[in-house]
Amino acid sequence: MAYQTLIVDIDNHIALIRLNRPDAMNALNSTLLGELADALGAADKNDKVRCIVITGSDKAFAAGADIKEMSEKGFVDMFQADFFAPETEALLRVRKPIIAAVAGYALGGGCELAMMCDFIIAADTAKFGQPEINLGVVAGIGGTQRLTRFVGKSKAMDMHLTGRFMDAEEAERSGLVSRVVPASKLMDEAMTAASKIAEKSQISVKVVKEAVNRSYETTLREGLLFERRVFHMLFNTADQQEGMSAFLEKRQPQFRDQ
Ligand code: HXC
Repeated sequence: MAYQTLIVDIDNHIALIRLNRPDAMNALNSTLLGELADALGAADKNDKVRCIVITGSDKAFAAGADIKEMSEKGFVDMFQADFFAPETEALLRVRKPIIAAVAGYALGGGCELAMMCDFIIAADTAKFGQPEINLGVVAGIGGTQRLTRFVGKSKAMDMHLTGRFMDAEEAERSGLVSRVVPASKLMDEAMTAASKIAEKSQISVKVVKEAVNRSYETTLREGLLFERRVFHMLFNTADQQEGMSAFLEKRQPQFRDQ
């Protein structure tokens, strides 16, 4: 499917989705987020896809929600559209892993989009921020909640109240991103990580995603019980037998997602 604001490539079991509004630093407008929801839904259904990577350009992953589009709206428009809730909920329904590969600016909704992915690999040029306060608003698609869980209250308050940007080194130190690499290596690193994930049993992969996400949603006791049950459950799969046999036979496992 051809999109106006995205470039999608599917190769080697990886769906690479590139945000593509170069004149607006990949600002997230309704078209882009609608197309992203569509592309993610299609990748999730496509049996050939085993991992998804979302990226932007060298300059910007995304510099936030589109300020021009938002500037024309009032409360009733925002409320009636439940502005960006349907699109972001579509992203959160995706069961396959999503890696955000971030270079340049990831601001406002761009930072929030990266945080909705399963993990973030950053180029050393990445800059994260929640500068909505400078526009007289606040984050609207998860920034106050997710950034706080990633980096803690003090730093989240600092970022949201001052609107300052965080560089890649600080983002890694604070737990916002999983790794930082030179900008020239960003896509290699992200695609290699995606390929590694694509080699695993996709049953374990989906269970990891569900179980780690569960840690944000429930008590430790309930989360541990959920983990123990899914761990037990995996002993009823052919891939568990294959993984353990392969280890004992000193060979690479051949998972069949069964
Ligand atoms: C619309 C944007 C944009 C945005 C950049 N552009 N960010 N357009 N919405 N969020 C456009 C500029 O208007 C400009 O277009 C072009 O991209 C290049 O940007 P410049 O400002 O000229 O580049 P530079 O000087 O390098 O500064 C880059 C920047 C700055 C630091 C990223 O553009 C910036 O501060 N952008 C806004 C960041 C922001 O406030 N994000 C939060 C948005 S609110 P022209 O046509 O002039 O060349 C949000 C809410 C989320 O995200 C909740 C949603 C529900």
